[in-house]
Amino acid sequence: MPRFSKAVLSLRSSEIRDLMTLASRPDIISFAGGMPGNDLFPVTAVEELFGGLDLKTKQAAFQYGPTPGLPTLLESLSGFLEKKGLPVKENRLLITTGSQQGLSILARAFIDPGDTVLVETPCFIGALSAFRACEAELMAIPLDGEGLSIERLEREIDIDERAKLLYLTPYFHNPAGLLYTAERKRQLIETLQGRDIPLIEDDAYGDLYFFEEDRQRLKPIKAINPEGIEVCYTGSFSKILGPGLRLGWMLLPEEIYAKCELIKQSADACSPSFTQVLADAFIRSGQIYSYIESVRLEYKRRAAAMVAALREHLPEYVKWNEPRGGFYIWLTLPEGADATDIMKLALQGGAVFVAGKTFDPDASSKRNNSLRLSYCNNTPEQIAEGIPIVADAIRKSCG
Ligand SMILES: Cc1ncc(COP(=O)(O)O)c(C=O)c1O
Repeated sequence: MPRFSKAVLSLRSSEIRDLMTLASRPDIISFAGGMPGNDLFPVTAVEELFGGLDLKTKQAAFQYGPTPGLPTLLESLSGFLEKKGLPVKENRLLITTGSQQGLSILARAFIDPGDTVLVETPCFIGALSAFRACEAELMAIPLDGEGLSIERLEREIDIDERAKLLYLTPYFHNPAGLLYTAERKRQLIETLQGRDIPLIEDDAYGDLYFFEEDRQRLKPIKAINPEGIEVCYTGSFSKILGPGLRLGWMLLPEEIYAKCELIKQSADACSPSFTQVLADAFIRSGQIYSYIESVRLEYKRRAAAMVAALREHLPEYVKWNEPRGGFYIWLTLPEGADATDIMKLALQGGAVFVAGKTFDPDASSKRNNSLRLSYCNNTPEQIAEGIPIVADAIRKSCG
């Protein structure tokens, strides 16, 4: 066998990922992918925007660009982020190849093999992979209905003073669907101040809120700008324009930015100029705002269809969140239930989702009594057809 690195040898394809290959059959209704609906992409608008650019800009789109990002996109994106109250001028903005690259860069910036990283459980799988690839020890901290458990966070920080990073997705969590309360964010800030544990605040879904009244709750910790915490804020064009662009960003304190820029240089030199030109044109035309508004409404409609179907078909013993934004509903089944078993049954019926243990930071855990449903990628009609299949599979497996 080739002599791979220890870090790579620790990466494994899971049984669930193998099953997902089966699930890509076109006759299967998939509630698995955390991807926007293809039918929602602004294809014509982007075609027209590109067609309207001058020749020099079009040529630059084919060229290498500066590592931190095309200056014109950095400028237009700064305006977009300032509207959210983010302190762009006091920090540095780095364009990344998807926010996944941002997480990988931060992992490389901070983690030596064996270092502890504090994460939510459940946790976004891409972040877990980025931390695992740097041989981090993952310390899982549970979520309750309001956000990360402060009691557990304090306990872990006291036990393990070496914790290097805390990673959170407070706005329409993937996979838990949760939106942190303002009070929980306040407590978090209080707990972290002066602790020397940088916070990675992942805000991939914050723009996709369903209720105006949540706007205040969506204010990023980065925008609150608390003293005594290094906040590394990550965002993405994936859910508000298209993941195929492979564009995200990080808003970072100067010292952290300098290291991250060096790491990015060695990773890919620059993110795609072509899609940076497109994203820049999309922001400058103002269409990004109307587009986000339209997908927000569509995802709200899809979420409502899923909520209605779950209410009608799920057995009472299944607990789940009503989404306030984002892409996901998280189902908690009775203790001892096996979501992988349920997934196999659902696949036979023609529907699929992701079993909860995929998102468990503790890879050796046997617990698997939860699952993630995405409503983003299906019409209300497909949702109405697929949810009874999932409900049937749950009944067959759990009784
Ligand atoms: C919470 C979260 N963060 C980051 C990402 C990565 O997105 P991308 O690399 O496409 O920007 C995702 C993708 O699903 C996500 O759910």
